[in-house]
Amino acid sequence: MGKVAIRTAVVCAAAAVAVTVLVVRHRKRSAGRWARAAAVLEELEEQCATPTLKLREVADAMVKEMNAGLESEDGCKVKMIISFVDKLPTGAEKGLFYALDLGGTNFRVLRVQLGGKEGRVVKQEYEEVSIPQELMVGGSDELFDFIASALAKFVGSEGEIHGPAGKSRELGFTFSFPVKQTSIASGTLIKWTKGFDIAATIGEDVVAELTKSLKRQGLDMRVTALVNDTVGTLAGGIYDDSDVVVAVILGTGTNAAYIERIDAIKKWQGPIPNSGSMVINMEWGNFNSSNLPMTCYDQALDVESLNPGEQIFEKLISGMYLGEVVRRVLLRLAVEASLFGDSVPPQLEVPFALRTPIMSEMHHDTSADLKVVGAKLKEFLGISKTSLRTRKLIVQICDIVAKRGARLAAAGIFGILKKLGRHDAKRRTVIAMDGGLYEHYTSFRESLLSTLNEMLGDEAAASVQVILANDGSGIGAALLAASHS
Ligand code: BGC
Repeated sequence: MGKVAIRTAVVCAAAAVAVTVLVVRHRKRSAGRWARAAAVLEELEEQCATPTLKLREVADAMVKEMNAGLESEDGCKVKMIISFVDKLPTGAEKGLFYALDLGGTNFRVLRVQLGGKEGRVVKQEYEEVSIPQELMVGGSDELFDFIASALAKFVGSEGEIHGPAGKSRELGFTFSFPVKQTSIASGTLIKWTKGFDIAATIGEDVVAELTKSLKRQGLDMRVTALVNDTVGTLAGGIYDDSDVVVAVILGTGTNAAYIERIDAIKKWQGPIPNSGSMVINMEWGNFNSSNLPMTCYDQALDVESLNPGEQIFEKLISGMYLGEVVRRVLLRLAVEASLFGDSVPPQLEVPFALRTPIMSEMHHDTSADLKVVGAKLKEFLGISKTSLRTRKLIVQICDIVAKRGARLAAAGIFGILKKLGRHDAKRRTVIAMDGGLYEHYTSFRESLLSTLNEMLGDEAAASVQVILANDGSGIGAALLAASHS
């Protein structure tokens, strides 16, 4: 062998050794990263665990809070707000009514023609308008003027259906935030939730605020019922099925309302209604208990939110937050386990960059190579190359976070049924459910329903039914406007 050949062989051997060293180092580093990722996942799984026993404790804590809130609102997490709705729709409602449904990033205006027992809902028309982000955190007048102007435009399009001449149009106002009702058609805002933050409205009568704006629009309209979306859903639900006793919203936010016996409402000081009962707007989103499975991600989300320390149950369950919890887990994995390579993808650091509908699409990806997960990561988080193993891990994280939320929501419902003595009864009990999270996030819905069955047991579960009361809150508000006009 010549000198040159020997030198070449030595160089090649050295290069091969160097490559092997690099490969071994890379493998070791990669194994180290995956070990770190596995540890983070394991911790998440452990902290989000919701064994049935824990869920029963959550349900019992909910019942305790319900009883406390029915005695007095002071210092109670679950406010158990008296809705002043003591008569629910009977089906006899007649006439033309409007409804305004405000509770998230969109609001809806509706026109409903009610035809009594025979005619039922003769006709309904609606329009949906999205609220510009700046109005959600701006001034009170600006928000209400914006809504009133959309309503004026809608009223202007009244065609073949219109109300009696010379009489104000009547409006059911669904306002889906915590309001201390002072009558069926008035109430002061306790606080904003779901990303709204307008200091000037807090403590104000929201009907008066809307009425001022309606006047400015020159609109002759009278609010005859102010209702929470849960109360509207209950009213809409009972119009279709008289066994509805509970309504739950699982959408951007979450809440529940139910029909309570008046004698169980210790704080009620008014006359005994003929019906002997009253709808209670629980505002369960603000429920909190040491039994709730909280993680460091939830704690950080809460601290950095617009309403720290508030709406803890909502932050574990609802559509506004699930994707954000997942984003926080992914960010930790990006930092500590280099899940997406050596640098942290900048978009992953943006709060709320991963919205729950996207999380849901990734969670439901059934393709063998999880291409939906890959595409969503690219589109929404600017992450272009991921291994199948990484994508599988992301689906697992979505599953853990969604399952925890769904199981907790089921525990809340079980708590209400327990409070009503309907958790082991044979009486048919119907729960009217509304909200995009429940409607569109299939595995969330399935997990909620199976958990409710698990908690009720087969026999009791057979008499409990959850029905989707799609957009029932708008119709419900119109029905309540009718029955309280
Ligand atoms: C609000 C409730 C509302 C729920 C669902 C919560 O954030 O506090 O009033 O019913 O969202 O829309």
